[in-house]
Formats: sequence, C-alpha cells, structure tokens
Amino acid sequence: MTSVDLDEKIPNNVGLSSDRKLQRALERWQPLFLDWWREMGPVEHQNHEVYLRTAVSVGRDGWANFDFVKMPDYRWGIFLAEPEPDRTVGFGDRRGEPVWQEVPGELRSGLRRLIVVQGDTEPASVEQQRHLCRTAPSIYDLRNLFQINVEEARHLWAMVYLLHAYFGRDGRDEADMLLERHSGSPDNPRILGAFNEPTPDWLSFFFFTYFTDRDGKFQLASLAESGFDPLARTCQFMLKEEAYHMFVGAGGVGRVVQRTADLMRQHDTSDVSPHGGINVDTLQRYLNLHYSVSLDLFGAETSTNAANYYAAGLKGRYQESLREDDHRLHDAETSVPVMVGDTITERQVPSLTALNAILRDDYAADCQKGVERWNRILEEVGTSLTLPHTGFHRAVGVFAGAPITPEGTLVDRDRFEAQRHRWLPTAHDREYIASLMTGVSEPGRMAGWIAAPSAGIHQRPVDFEYVRS
Ligand SMILES: [Fe+2]
Ligand SMILES: [Fe+2]
Repeated sequence: MTSVDLDEKIPNNVGLSSDRKLQRALERWQPLFLDWWREMGPVEHQNHEVYLRTAVSVGRDGWANFDFVKMPDYRWGIFLAEPEPDRTVGFGDRRGEPVWQEVPGELRSGLRRLIVVQGDTEPASVEQQRHLCRTAPSIYDLRNLFQINVEEARHLWAMVYLLHAYFGRDGRDEADMLLERHSGSPDNPRILGAFNEPTPDWLSFFFFTYFTDRDGKFQLASLAESGFDPLARTCQFMLKEEAYHMFVGAGGVGRVVQRTADLMRQHDTSDVSPHGGINVDTLQRYLNLHYSVSLDLFGAETSTNAANYYAAGLKGRYQESLREDDHRLHDAETSVPVMVGDTITERQVPSLTALNAILRDDYAADCQKGVERWNRILEEVGTSLTLPHTGFHRAVGVFAGAPITPEGTLVDRDRFEAQRHRWLPTAHDREYIASLMTGVSEPGRMAGWIAAPSAGIHQRPVDFEYVRS
C-alpha cells in the first residue's frame, strides 16, 4: 500500500517530491485554486470547523480519515488507486496490449478533451451549490454539502494533475482555464449545459446529487477502464468519493419522501403543503427535470467520437470486464431509439457507434433502483414516483425538442405546452420550495419538510455538532 505524504504542500501518492518540474507547476496552480475556492466556494462557514473526511491513504482501509478542519485548510491532494501489476488494455483494437503510462501521441488531443470535459464539471458543481449553506435543513446536511464540495474540488485536482503531468504547456493552460470558466457565466460558462444551471434549493440539491452525480459515476467508471493507466487509476479513486455523493442524494430524497408520507398519514391528505411538507406531485416534477437534464449529459445516442474513443482504448463501457463479448464490438449491433415521422421506434446500429446509448441505459437502470426504494416508503400511502420516458424534455440526441410526455407519447406541441405545468416544476413550486428553505442550526434538529437520517456520520450521533464555529 502506498501511503500518502500529508506533510507535503500538496499531499500525494504520485511521488511528487521526486518530480521537481511537475511539483513547481502544481505549486504555481495551488494559490490560483485557493483564490477560486475563496471566491467561488461556499459563501459562508469558511472559517468554521467542519467534521470532514480526508484521504490519508488509498488502500482498502484507511483512505478515509475523519476530523474537524476548516474548509480552506482541507488537504486537497492527488491520489491514484494502487497500480494493477501487468494490467493490459481491456477493450478496443488494442485489447491485450500493456496499458500506457504515457499518452500515445495520436490519442493526445482526444484524451485531453475527455479530461478537460470531466474536469470542468467538478468545480462547476461547487459553484452551483455555493449558496446552499445558508439554508441547510440541518447541521448534518450542512456537513454533507461541504464534504461533497471539498471532494468535487479534489476531483478538479485529480484532473489538473493529469493535465500538468502528461500534457505539457497546453495542459497547464487548460488547467488555468478550469478556474476561469464559471457556472452560469454569460461570457465564460462551464462546458456542459447541466452545469450552468443554478442549484437554488435543497430539494434540487438532493435530486442533483442523485441524478447528476450519478452521471459522473458512469463517466468515471468508463474512464476507469481506460488504457491510459494514470487516468484509469485516478478515476478509480474518484469513484470511492463519488459513491458518497450519491448516498447523500438517495438518502436526502428518501428522507423528504419519508416526511411527506408521514404527514400524509398524520393528516389523512395528499396535500401536505399546509403542514409544511412537499407534495408527491411536486417531487415528481423535480425528479422529471433533474433526470431529463442528466440524460442529456450522455450526448447523442450514436456518436463516432464515442466509437473512436472505444476503439482506441481510451473510454470503455460501464463494468467492461464483466461483460461477456469480444470487447472489440466490430460485429455487434445494438438497438437505439429513433423518431420516424410521428412515431418513436428503434433501429439496429453498430454497437460501436451506440456506446453513449448503452452507457445511458446502464445509468437509467441504476437510477431506477433508488426510485424503487423511495416507492417502498410511498407504497404505504398508496402513491409512487416514476422515472419519465427517455424522450421526455430532452435537449440532446434523437428526442431533442420533441414534445414527448413522461409516459412516452409523442403529442402535438400545443398539448405538450398546455400540460407542462403538470410535468415540470412551476413558478409556484419554486416559490413554495424556496419558502421552506430556512436554515436550521441547532444540532439534531431537522427542517419540517425532511425526516431525520437513520444514522449520523462515521458513528457519530445525528445530533452531533458537525459544523462548529
Ligand atoms: Fe466529482
Ligand atoms: Fe460528485
């Protein structure tokens, strides 16, 4: 097990101290990063002690060390999963060759693009969430928000390390630009649409961490298969942190659902808003929005870029090694949705070009599991939540702009617009949710719209003072 040198200015397990040039480059970038954190990170609590998890080693145990730390003093570092001896490329035309420790020249620009796009999402979400600390429904939730924020910032470090270590001058320029683009900026926005939308309230935050962080999981998992070994090992370690972000989303939505069900039972009504709860139809509209926007992150169903990345061994499928096929896919076919006139149908295409659709389908199946858990709570009050049809409210791919209902029926545009208020958050929903967002600062107390979690963090009680001044 490689231990992490936490005494270094930049904690790492990549032997930074023996690479002076790289160390100097990263030490030049570090103050720029800290300026960014102070300007674009959480708007409050920067001087407060937060009970945070910090990586101290990457082995099976001990990579998570809990202690009180002020966020600007968090030890952001560079951690790669342990190397796998004699690892070979697992897919594509170079399957079976030893993995690459340097960037193959002909793959350089494609690989840099993949790293920049992934890297851009990490600080974007910190920017999107920076105001939420004013309205946390509990101290427990406030701490979880900050844990996610510092880890997304560490994911930025992970991508910046790759850019600095393997892409020379243009990598350093790209690393600087990751701090210059800002979520929602009219002049210099983040690269992907979903990362320019604000996260205005905690209900949006929980759906974002459930659906949009889960897109991150699937992108990272397919990059963790990469033949470029430093990228694969970087992403493997990031996935450990990412799992917690989705836990916060799944648990957060689950607690809202629980509170709603409790209020429905208590007051024998489906309209719990007079009692300070969030109605199931409002939850469904937020779910519809966040799911559809997250589906767009997978890109068009068919893509030659995705085919090229796969053939080159750069980006695999989710759980590539568990699949029973030739891992080259030259002869395989997959059916993808198409729109023919007024009907939604399917057609067979070469699997190589359908990799975005394949990843998106795996993602959808993973999303469904959480919905089923929430529905076990809602079952008792005779209602449920559902994932909308893949074609609903899409801006990317074959369904882009098509007026498709959540049930998957193509209707005329006027009818769609007339029903939009039933399917997507309305101004009234947003106003009501905003009215619930009053911060709760007493340890153990929860806002009225959300149930308490069943357990605290790292064996601490729920009413532990996770953030203290
Ligand atoms: Fe991340
Ligand atoms: Fe995340």
